[in-house]
Amino acid sequence: MLKRLLLAVVATLFFVIQFNIVSANAVELDQDIRTVKLNDAGDEVVLSLKQVKQGQRLFVNKCTYCHKSGTTKTNPNVGLGLNALANAEPPKDNIEGIVEYLKHPVTYDGEFSIEELHPNTSRADLYPMMRNLTDEDLKAVAGHILIQPEIRGTMWGGGKVYN
Ligand code: HEC
Repeated sequence: MLKRLLLAVVATLFFVIQFNIVSANAVELDQDIRTVKLNDAGDEVVLSLKQVKQGQRLFVNKCTYCHKSGTTKTNPNVGLGLNALANAEPPKDNIEGIVEYLKHPVTYDGEFSIEELHPNTSRADLYPMMRNLTDEDLKAVAGHILIQPEIRGTMWGGGKVYN
């Protein structure tokens, strides 16, 4: 009898704790945080929690190797912080800008194609890890990049390296 009661208490506690953790996550990622720029014209979009999750999974699998915490391994000047993205040509501080980059990457000044140097879906022959990514996947990964400054603050992107 006592054992059963104890079990019931433990089970209840477990559910209460579980529930609180889930709702804490939901509050942390409220709609404000999940609202990002869709395009350079300034339209906005709210990412779903599902997109946020998917974006994180894809980013960790395919991008973290070079872009840990939003920095860029071989080129610290071209990080994934909002400033760096906003000042790129064309600007990449929005979903469509990043998605386009992941299809046809160009140099920071927008002058030259770097499809042979940066992973992209157009040259999946060179980058097999990009082969099965859909437009939805690319949007999710772009969304992941854009909400990190909200979640991690200056820990994301490493700030400015040179002035
Ligand atoms: C092999 C290393 C490597 C991998 C893997 C990689 N990147 Fe990059 N990324 C770079 C480098 C290097 C640059 C800077 C290119 C340049 O010199 O313009 C860059 C630049 C970028 C930029 C432009 C940043 C800006 O400020 O304009 C974006 C966006 C980006 N990467 C996103 C991604 C995403 C998303 C993934 C995963 C799908 C990814 N990268 C995977 C190396 C990598």
